[in-house]
Amino acid sequence: MTVIGIDKMSFFSPQQYIDMVELANARGEEPDKYLIGIGQTQQAVIPPTQDVVTMAANAADEMLTASDRKTITMILFATESGIDNSKSGAVYLQRLLGINPYARTIELKQACYAGTFALMQARDYVTLHPTEKVLVIASDIARYGLNTSGEVTQGGGAVAMLVSANPAIAQINQDSQYLSRDVMDFWRPVYADTARVDGKYSANIYQDFFKAIWMRYKQKTGLDITHFQAFAFHLPFTKMGLKALRDVLPEASEAQQANLMREFEASRVYNKRIGNLYTGSLYLSLYSLLANSATLKAGDHVGMFSYGSGAEGEFYSLTLRPHFKAGLINGQLEELLSNREQLTIAEYEEIFDSQLNGLTDRQLDTQQDTAKFVLSGLENEQRQY
Ligand code: HMG
Repeated sequence: MTVIGIDKMSFFSPQQYIDMVELANARGEEPDKYLIGIGQTQQAVIPPTQDVVTMAANAADEMLTASDRKTITMILFATESGIDNSKSGAVYLQRLLGINPYARTIELKQACYAGTFALMQARDYVTLHPTEKVLVIASDIARYGLNTSGEVTQGGGAVAMLVSANPAIAQINQDSQYLSRDVMDFWRPVYADTARVDGKYSANIYQDFFKAIWMRYKQKTGLDITHFQAFAFHLPFTKMGLKALRDVLPEASEAQQANLMREFEASRVYNKRIGNLYTGSLYLSLYSLLANSATLKAGDHVGMFSYGSGAEGEFYSLTLRPHFKAGLINGQLEELLSNREQLTIAEYEEIFDSQLNGLTDRQLDTQQDTAKFVLSGLENEQRQY
């Protein structure tokens, strides 16, 4: 049978960041609370010249060849910080990237979970149409507000994934287990540009979902923890993934516990420095794992836990392909992170308040933004890219 899965991955996040020790000092918190208790060291800051569309375009552009652009027949754009209540971000992306005009373009929403749904749809579509390719995008800006307890868990960026037959990175296995329940742990009313959250409750629901779905996965598939060489989790903050991992570690031998912990550290290297990017967090963690693990090899199984508040969770597995590192852009994250500029907390606060909300026409100063795709302003209430 033809193998279907993730062929390529690419990531983008803007060029500015803040340091979590400085944020802790400014907020009167112990730095170790942010560094260890939350598990974040830096946080991406999103300038007014970037939004979910430009971040998605910047991520996807780096990985797509001219031939990919012709072969893509569907763009699935997962986001919960979209820029329009009607038009999908995927249509803008099709134009900006010069993708085949005879492609379907659609935006998907269910908090941080939608990227996983998009990936599953892409896999099923390519299974039926193996000569076609699907572009999956997970792009978001996580905003809680200045001086809120969620502030340390902000961030933003985009992950682009190309789903195809005979993929370079991983096969997406047909073993998903999922669960949905109407809960108010985190939400964002249509009039609000920051999330509403019941923080501790949300973390408890996340863990409850993981435990329930993991149990169901074992029952339905007959597999257990010995099947997995690594796990990747949705990482709203990296300590969250550690909490989930600890829930299953007692099921492993001592040697396997050490291995899973080592792979977990690889899976959070980048997320610690970017912060939450909602739909893209799990996939940045997968990217981090694949790029930073020195031990994973072809045929290994990675357990993937996706969680979106509101709430929906899904657990599934990937099987790594022979040359999985070749599907990543060599050194992409190291270059992106080393070229970033550190902002003071005062500078970040000013940028935070100046995010373009789409309320009034204006021109933006794009001089400082080095990205290929930028938002230059709003004319007649239309975004100019
Ligand atoms: P908080 O109340 O500021 O923090 O909120 P805390 O008092 O709970 O402390 C955090 C941890 O730091 C604790 O560890 C402390 O013990 C520890 P824990 O008990 O959790 O293991 N700590 C220290 N550790 C070392 N040295 C110290 C120290 N001091 C304290 N000196 C909270 C934290 C995460 C709740 C808050 O930031 C928040 O509300 N964040 C946003 C919500 C969130 O991220 N929820 C995650 C689950 S929901 C989800 O994943 C979905 C989401 O991505 C959205 C979507 O789906 O669209 C959010």
